[in-house]
Amino acid sequence: MPAVPLSREGSMKILVLGAAAGGGFPQWNGNDAAADRARAGDAQARPQTQSSIAVSADGRRWVLFNASPDLRQQINDNAALWPKAGDGLRASPLAAVVLTNADVDHVAGLLNLRESQKLAVYGHARVLDMLARNSIFNVLNPAFVARRAFGLETKQVIRDRDGHDLGIAVRPFAVPGKVALWLEDAKAPNLGTLAGDTVGLEISGNGRSFFYIPGCAAMTQDLAQRLAGAKLVFFDGTLWRDDEMIVAGMGTKTGQRMGHMSCDTTIVAFRELGIGRKLFIHLNNTNPLLIGNSPERHQALAAGWEVAHDGMEIALEHALAEAGI
Ligand code: MLT
Ligand code: MN
Repeated sequence: MPAVPLSREGSMKILVLGAAAGGGFPQWNGNDAAADRARAGDAQARPQTQSSIAVSADGRRWVLFNASPDLRQQINDNAALWPKAGDGLRASPLAAVVLTNADVDHVAGLLNLRESQKLAVYGHARVLDMLARNSIFNVLNPAFVARRAFGLETKQVIRDRDGHDLGIAVRPFAVPGKVALWLEDAKAPNLGTLAGDTVGLEISGNGRSFFYIPGCAAMTQDLAQRLAGAKLVFFDGTLWRDDEMIVAGMGTKTGQRMGHMSCDTTIVAFRELGIGRKLFIHLNNTNPLLIGNSPERHQALAAGWEVAHDGMEIALEHALAEAGI
């Protein structure tokens, strides 16, 4: 039998299922030039679905990170997530879901996973409590779907519903942010936000790790130290500049009000962190980074950033493979 090359055997595979923020690109009611270009099939304005990645240690079983309202389409668009011949008449390579917050674009897709399929759903207790309080999520039949709370700053091995280790672990940590829009309490300090409402994740498997932080309102010293020297970081790319929606006449909120730092400040904040690959993800439909030949996109690329897109695949190679051993 030919030897499996290390680079395949030892990698952690990442699939970008959805690179856009809530609403996707184009947004259903978007009636601006960028939306027109996306609908017209302009190669420089490619449609993107809502915020999610999938990760696998073995290329066979996958862990979903956030469940977007576009999940059904995302599964249909990615053959790796299709049921496999021989696995029975009802089957899925998706074995677990990990949630970073309770935003609509990150939890609504759970409703697509309701067909009595074994799954494990992981999230902070604040997020799982929200699911418990909203009885529509009871369509995730508890006889098939386990809900498991993770702690902050604790390594959590991700297991399927039956307890089998999927070869992926996460270390969740609180990041500056905001409680989900639909859970905001106008009378409470910081709209009722508490630690755990928005987490970043260090995701590890096969001896490699990377960071997935689709929502973050500020670069703190703690976060900078955590990220310094990382091989790969996916980071909040919601807005290019903080007042972009207001200036465009397409919204009344700043990025800060929504719990997001903007790409122009993020680029500066990351400059000295020595990160291998930096990718913006969770892009709002107003973000000019969605336009392939925009000046802002050129600026981001010149600063060493990439812009994630639907269908993007990354294999994080095993350290041995990288060292040429
Ligand atoms: C966000 O990322 O700020 C939220 O997804 C916004 C929303 O829920 O529409
Ligand atoms: Mn969002």
